[in-house]
Amino acid sequence: MRIIRTKNYQDMSQKAANVVFSTIILKPDCLLGLATGGTPVGMYQVLADRYVMGDLDFKSVKTVNLDEYVGLSEDHPQSYRYFMMENLFSKINIDRANTYLPNGLAEDSEAECENYEEVITKLGGVDLQVLGIGNNGHIGFNEPADVFDKQTHVVKLTENTRQANARFFDSIEQVPTDAITMGIKTIMKARAIILLASGEGKKEILKEALLGPITPKVPASVLQLHPNLIVVADEAALSLIPS
Ligand code: GLP
Repeated sequence: MRIIRTKNYQDMSQKAANVVFSTIILKPDCLLGLATGGTPVGMYQVLADRYVMGDLDFKSVKTVNLDEYVGLSEDHPQSYRYFMMENLFSKINIDRANTYLPNGLAEDSEAECENYEEVITKLGGVDLQVLGIGNNGHIGFNEPADVFDKQTHVVKLTENTRQANARFFDSIEQVPTDAITMGIKTIMKARAIILLASGEGKKEILKEALLGPITPKVPASVLQLHPNLIVVADEAALSLIPS
């Protein structure tokens, strides 16, 4: 595990963007695994800026997102497809047909999960997976559990996660109760993983995830086993982890 300690959120965003940048430079047709949430927004902005400056070309890049809410259409402002369009895809020259998210409106969610796994395999596997971390240690929407969920699956969101994500909705009642998420095994198959974290609010869970026991009660703790994990986090989030 490599830990890149940054001054603040902006610095984290720049350094994380540099990791994505080098992945694209080295492999212009790479498959990026992408995440939503507040944490990667700054990184996406830096990447979009680098595209505008002419430093980056996304025309052959492909993307798969970690997760999507069940029941929200692509044009719902809180769907993760919408988030990705707003924060990245609409600002760069990526081919929309090369961007994949689970379909939250699929009639048969189980079939959609299987289909999503096949999509990732057919695309050659993820070269670099971007991750944030939930307050309870979730990655994607893999919530604390008794066992590590392996493949892409439908998940019931915990109250903690629904409350944390309620800030993006008008009220908590509007936060979907279910989501489709890549599983832990799906995530761990990525050739490299970059975990982002920022702010005081993440310091305890980040310590548990990176230094605590590996347990499905803290899903992100499994990342300790990944051979190529890069943590890019700011001082505040890393304040309980000695340098
Ligand atoms: C959501 C997403 C996760 C994300 C997490 C943390 O639940 N499904 O992928 O990492 O929230 O979000 P934030 O970055 O806003 O703290």
